[in-house]
Amino acid sequence: MADTLTVTDNRTGKIYEIPISDGAIKATDLKQIRTADPDDTGLLTYDPAFMNTAACRSRITYIDGDKGILLYRGYPIEQLAEHSTYLETAYLILNGELPSAAALKEWEHRITMHTMVHENIKKFMEGFTYDAHPMGVFVSTVAAMSTFYRDGKQIFDTERRQLQILRLIAKTPTIAAYAYRHSIGRPYVYPDNDLSFTGNFLNMLFKMTETKYVPNEKLARALDILFILHADHEQNCSTSTMRGIGSSHVDPYSALAGAAAALYGPLHGGANEAVLRMLAEIGSVANIPGFIKRVKAGDGRLMGFGHRVYKSYDPRAKIIKRTAYEVFEVTGKNPLLDIALELERIALEDEYFVSRKLYPNVDFYSGLIYQAMRFPVEMFAVLFAIARTVGWVAQWEEMLLDQEQKIFRPRQLYTGAATRDYVPMANR
Ligand code: CMC
Repeated sequence: MADTLTVTDNRTGKIYEIPISDGAIKATDLKQIRTADPDDTGLLTYDPAFMNTAACRSRITYIDGDKGILLYRGYPIEQLAEHSTYLETAYLILNGELPSAAALKEWEHRITMHTMVHENIKKFMEGFTYDAHPMGVFVSTVAAMSTFYRDGKQIFDTERRQLQILRLIAKTPTIAAYAYRHSIGRPYVYPDNDLSFTGNFLNMLFKMTETKYVPNEKLARALDILFILHADHEQNCSTSTMRGIGSSHVDPYSALAGAAAALYGPLHGGANEAVLRMLAEIGSVANIPGFIKRVKAGDGRLMGFGHRVYKSYDPRAKIIKRTAYEVFEVTGKNPLLDIALELERIALEDEYFVSRKLYPNVDFYSGLIYQAMRFPVEMFAVLFAIARTVGWVAQWEEMLLDQEQKIFRPRQLYTGAATRDYVPMANR
């Protein structure tokens, strides 16, 4: 059996044999299919929102949406969430293999040594209004980093590229924490290099007058698990943005600011903020049937439900639900939990959601944890961005080193006016 696709063009009667490789045909192989019309540049594929188009080969993350499987470099997300740490997972995502004990120690040390940001970044952030959305502050500050770390432009120098990757992973928590402290009018807290990655993050967020902040180990671990779960998710909207912007060979700070901007939207990383607002708006379990009725009638969406790829329970949502109970043991139960549980129960039995394969996604329960840990809803997407930074930079580097990649430039089907002459104002 040949790995080819035979195509008959009924416009011309011509038959073409197109090679199939890795379950795909090359869209450019369709270019040869053309009519006798000299203006015909060849057959295009039309795929708005890239519903069925692979734009790259990747060795980083694997998702089986029907079976609810998520692997980073082959390792199941459940095992990483149980046994790994965010920094070890970041090493794995970037390098393809789990580190040895010595390599992990060295990696953690190098990240820790890069947590400080240039003092002028702090000053720059002070210019935002007191009520600026921390995600807007985060996006802008990451973009501004390209002006501070100008060697970031040397993207094909391996050592320089590694340095920017380290800087980005190490500094995004600092920027996020500064954005938060700014929004509540508290002085910024410098990184504490004695603490773990998430322990230090909690320190920069919540330290008050104590000389040494002692993070709650259970909360630091819960945050670490959430960061592992959000570290990468193959070619999602923000990652495709990172690859797309990066394909012009701009520095990684500019590209990552664009990726973070894509994440900001309510259909992507802004969804957990939207979930919390939705739960608060529903207000009580008694109001759920009315809310579900409105969603089914097309009035709004059940936020935190549905996914382009997962057509079964998002494996990350299962782990988050379990982690939520562990966090609530420390913080006390989030009162919105009962509404979320009941919403999930009803939706999973309702024909509308069942027939469309709409299940809870990663964002459905994560907001409840973040809120219980005292994060304001505006910070939720920022937390997602910190964790996803490693995925963005790993995918960016993979794209840069991929000989098959070029600058992103999709085609279009032009449906506008044909050539016409300019109409003078008096004749319109
Ligand atoms: N509530 C109600 N109906 C929904 C929902 C939902 N959350 N999601 C999809 N549908 C319906 C939709 O109306 C459509 O119905 P019909 O066929 O009758 O028109 C059908 O399900 C298919 O939806 P779609 O919009 O074509 O699906 P999509 O793959 O384009 O959208 C999605 C995926 C995640 C944007 C969407 O499910 C959604 O808006 N969910 C709510 C927002 C959300 O939770 N986003 C987080 C995604 S996971 C984390 C991340 O990526 O950042």
